[in-house]
Amino acid sequence: MTYILVLYYSRYGATHEMARQVARGVEEVPGLQGRLRTVPAVSPVCEAVEDEIPAEGPPYASIEDLSDCAGLALGSPTRFGNMAAPLKYFLDRTSELWLSGALAGKPAGVFTSSSSLHGGQETTLVTMMLPLLHQGMLITGLPYTDTDLLHTASGGTPYGPSHLAGADSKLPLSDEEKRLCRALGRRIARTAVALERAAS
Ligand SMILES: Cc1cc2nc3c(=O)[nH]c(=O)nc-3n(C[C@H](O)[C@H](O)[C@H](O)COP(=O)(O)O)c2cc1C
Repeated sequence: MTYILVLYYSRYGATHEMARQVARGVEEVPGLQGRLRTVPAVSPVCEAVEDEIPAEGPPYASIEDLSDCAGLALGSPTRFGNMAAPLKYFLDRTSELWLSGALAGKPAGVFTSSSSLHGGQETTLVTMMLPLLHQGMLITGLPYTDTDLLHTASGGTPYGPSHLAGADSKLPLSDEEKRLCRALGRRIARTAVALERAAS
């Protein structure tokens, strides 16, 4: 089945919740599946000690999950205004896909969660786009026709959905944040379908 890869890292669960909503949005588009995949935490010994299958949550992503997807939604907690190291580590292992152009022309979007509203969501989202642009992916942000962007008092940006998790990272997703996550999933999925039709 054709799928949109929803690839994310989450330490405390907020980005995980966002990923679930993005996948729901993907599956609102007939014929497309949202494939949730995560990455292991990075530590000096991660490759030596981490089991291949996590104790809970979706499986770890393989390079094939990425190369075979019809589109990509990439999610990360904000870490000092940037994406988290485990996700960057995974992306840094994709030079073969860059060499072969496997991701060129496929749609992609990004999402993030942070403790504070002005703590770097937008810098995280924009910098997450850069490796995807190097891979030749077509970046889909969110349009203001998703009117939640105009009214949200929590997360949500034109660069991609975001979530205000609060100082203890425990705030649930607001209704606007959920809708914007789903809107991103739908947008990537519809773009993938349109591109596939145009190519056939
Ligand atoms: C090392 C580190 C750096 C962080 N940097 C930021 C930051 O720059 N701005 C911010 O608002 N929150 C920052 N946070 C908080 C996380 O972005 C926030 O808790 C996020 O919602 C966690 O997502 P998760 O539940 O998916 O792990 C940081 C957390 C850690 C552990």
